[in-house]
Amino acid sequence: MASKLLILLFLHLLPLTKSQSPAPNITLGSTLYTNSTPNSWPSPSGHFAFGFYPSGNGFKLGIWLVGSPNNTVVWTSRRNETVISPGAALAFSADGRLLLHSTDGQVQPIAETTPQASVASMHDSGNFLLYDSSWTIIWASFNFPTDTLLVRQNLVVDQFLYSSISETDASIGNFKLLLQRDGNLVAYPIRSYTDAKYVYWSSFTANSGRNVTLNLNADSRFYLLNSTGRSIKNFTEGRYLADNTKVLYRATFDADGILRLYQHQMGTEGSLGFTILWTAIREENRCSVKGICGENSFCTIDGAKLSCLCPPGFDFVDPNQPNLGCKSNFTVMNDCFGKKGNANYMSPLPNTAWEVSEYDVLTQVNEETCSENCWMDCNCVVATFRDQICYKQKLPLRFGRRNISNPTKTLVKTRSFPSGLPPDTNVVPTKITNKLSKKHVIVGIVIITFSVLVSLFSGYLLFSHRICSYNVRTGQLNSSDVLIEEINLRSFTYDQLVQATDNFKEEIGRGASGKVYKGSLARNGGQEIAVKRLEKMVDETEVEFRNEMKIIGRTHHKNLVQLIGFCSEGSKRLLVYEFMKNGSLATLLFKSKKRPVWNERMRILIEIARGINYLHEECETRIIHCDIKPQNILMGESWSAKISDFGLSKLLKPDQTRTYTTARGTRGYVAPEWYKSNAPITVKADVYSFGVVLFEIICCRKNMELAVPDEEIVLMDWIYECYVGGELGKVVGEEVVDMAELEKTVKVGLWCVHTEAVQRPSMKSVITMLEGNVVTPVPPLKPCSMYVNV
Ligand SMILES: *[C@@H]1O[C@H](CO)[C@@H](O)[C@H](O)[C@H]1NC(C)=O
Ligand SMILES: *[C@@H]1O[C@H](CO)[C@@H](O)[C@H](O)[C@H]1NC(C)=O
Ligand SMILES: *[C@@H]1O[C@H](CO)[C@@H](O)[C@H](O)[C@H]1NC(C)=O
Ligand SMILES: *[C@@H]1O[C@H](CO)[C@@H](O)[C@H](O)[C@H]1NC(C)=O
Ligand SMILES: *[C@@H]1O[C@H](CO)[C@@H](O)[C@H](O)[C@H]1NC(C)=O
Ligand SMILES: *[C@@H]1O[C@H](CO)[C@@H](O)[C@H](O)[C@H]1NC(C)=O
Ligand SMILES: *[C@@H]1O[C@H](CO)[C@@H](O)[C@H](O)[C@H]1NC(C)=O
Ligand SMILES: *[C@@H]1O[C@H](CO)[C@@H](O)[C@H](O)[C@H]1NC(C)=O
Repeated sequence: MASKLLILLFLHLLPLTKSQSPAPNITLGSTLYTNSTPNSWPSPSGHFAFGFYPSGNGFKLGIWLVGSPNNTVVWTSRRNETVISPGAALAFSADGRLLLHSTDGQVQPIAETTPQASVASMHDSGNFLLYDSSWTIIWASFNFPTDTLLVRQNLVVDQFLYSSISETDASIGNFKLLLQRDGNLVAYPIRSYTDAKYVYWSSFTANSGRNVTLNLNADSRFYLLNSTGRSIKNFTEGRYLADNTKVLYRATFDADGILRLYQHQMGTEGSLGFTILWTAIREENRCSVKGICGENSFCTIDGAKLSCLCPPGFDFVDPNQPNLGCKSNFTVMNDCFGKKGNANYMSPLPNTAWEVSEYDVLTQVNEETCSENCWMDCNCVVATFRDQICYKQKLPLRFGRRNISNPTKTLVKTRSFPSGLPPDTNVVPTKITNKLSKKHVIVGIVIITFSVLVSLFSGYLLFSHRICSYNVRTGQLNSSDVLIEEINLRSFTYDQLVQATDNFKEEIGRGASGKVYKGSLARNGGQEIAVKRLEKMVDETEVEFRNEMKIIGRTHHKNLVQLIGFCSEGSKRLLVYEFMKNGSLATLLFKSKKRPVWNERMRILIEIARGINYLHEECETRIIHCDIKPQNILMGESWSAKISDFGLSKLLKPDQTRTYTTARGTRGYVAPEWYKSNAPITVKADVYSFGVVLFEIICCRKNMELAVPDEEIVLMDWIYECYVGGELGKVVGEEVVDMAELEKTVKVGLWCVHTEAVQRPSMKSVITMLEGNVVTPVPPLKPCSMYVNV
């Protein structure tokens, strides 16, 4: 159905095919052969031909631009199938079907048409057409673009161009180019699961309305047109000669993932050669194509030559195909804490960075701390250091690039060479050896005795300046090469928001990142909004801020508060959210006259878990919330729980971060590792906070309350004592609840607030346990201050 619509659309867009120079008629019963003549049907001018062309050890069926010495293939049928064996034939059968007869007797249709075709023709435009008996076009190769667009061939919304494996093999390669419904033309690697994140080139034409088309005119103008026929972007202006007997144009999404516009000089024998009129990505930036080099390798450009190289300690997966990536000889987990010495060290790899995919980010550290921290982390293979920020990275390393002017310092964990020598002798080992071993022992002791220490010195230990963050994008390292698809976020002017909030009249909340005001959007039928004014922001560039907004804007989950738009004018930065008229969970639990019933509270609990799980595992960019508390959980329509304020902590200045985490109110929700000087903050920090909220939901009271008997002051401790004492009923007072469910929920909560982050379950397991799909194991019992509340 959809393809029919598409064809209909094309028939509209291609009225010109009929008015071109008459194409010779290919009549019913004509046949092409791989091994004997004819093996192609040429267009009248002889510039294009349809037929079998050699590929690998066989043939493919397609259309090419005739040239010397080489033809240029512009379309291939069944391009991703194995090559056609010699001896095959293509028949335009007597009953009007285009059929490929293989040597093994197989018959495959090449073009599916209804009604059946009466005539076929190869046009001078490069379009191969089938007509019915009344000369209506019923099939056109232009409607099924592969990697090339010819003059008057359009790319429409939702259509892809796929790059070929190589210039000589038209099979589907590594990249795709999509014309999105929002009008943006974007390129990204074919194997990426979360497409938008890996867009490496875009036309920056999002929100151009529906039915945008990509067009190439006979005068070489290459442009995007909107549905009312207005050009919204000219890639080329098109003032070149329009005589198609002398020059021809084609736009090809090349094997290296770059869209280029070619001009072919035509002679009597076909194309004499070509020049590139326009390229989406400049030659010197070819490494910005994500996926041009395989996993664990990095891309570098030397003059015209692009190479994929392996970092120290890695070998090519296939030395004959460097672009397939690299592998390391050691298994990271088994070799954890391996002996250090001559053969084991962090080797520097200057000016090189990979996609920062690990969400362990340490800030305000020096290079040595960064290096040590990675060395001691079993999963860390690479530490990237820049501007006092340390990004630890795990395998696989992706989208690596070397850029001589990039000040990033990268340290690769290098170990256990059989020969005892590093493979790359240019590499100078850094000295982090003996001193580190001692530190190891100390850190080990610190970890073992940590819980005891924390309860004794919790007020004394320094809070480390780490930030909550996402999987940071390469944009952080080189913002010039990120081109993330525009998402449906509105950009507001400051004046619009002043108007919408009646000059920030009604304050409805305040948090670490700023105050929140109520407002309404006149233009959207008075839609109610919540406007957050960010205060004390880190100095971020406009680009960085917009990238943060895109990360947040791209999260869509029914248990998250949706960001509608933002305003960024100079130092004024505001966020616009949907308005939650039912207030926060804190109000619902602690301030309402009647506590919500047990079943409702359990529903809310699971909804919160789902929202956090989405942030941790399901959204394109993983987000650690870092400030889960009832004040940050808002109640939407029909009292569904929606998490708010995520993705913002990274925007705060470090001192601000420190203030708010130690500030009253949030303090009780913070996981113990926040107070450890070197422990990484992971998603498990949110699991801890969730555990605290879980207890509060069970009892409808705050974690810390003074107007109660002494043993009940710290809710978590009291619940633990009741659980161990077999008196769980006490925690819900007179309320009648399902005791089995209460016990299960408490057990889940106790696992969540485990002192050791690694012992805490993931949010996904929390959900399965709460839903009762698995038996919740008995949580470990204290003696060693297992559940510390700091
Ligand atoms: C193709 O067939 C049509 C209808 O028979 C005829 O009018 C036309 O001249 C033919 N074209 C060529 C180039 O032979
Ligand atoms: C023509 O193709 C051959 C074989 O693929 C290749 O070696 C040669 O460089 C090509 N010549 C031109 C001018 O592209
Ligand atoms: C194309 O074929 C290759 C090899 O058979 C396969 O790995 C790849 O997934 C195919 N791609 C598509 C898009 O079908
Ligand atoms: C097409 O672009 C023109 C000029 O930019 C604009 O006025 C018009 O609204 C656009 N049409 C649609 C349907 O977006
Ligand atoms: C886009 O094209 C479809 C199919 O031709 C049509 O139904 C729809 O109205 C078009 N939309 C716009 C905004 O032009
Ligand atoms: C693109 O070029 C055409 C022809 O020169 C011109 O009419 C049009 O305004 C240009 N469009 C844009 C968006 O610059
Ligand atoms: C990896 O192992 C292979 C064979 O075991 C060996 O030939 C190669 O030198 C090793 N490479 C490194 C970097 O250790
Ligand atoms: C290399 O990095 C510098 C500074 O970060 C940047 O300005 C430049 O555009 C980058 N060059 C390439 C080819 O990416």
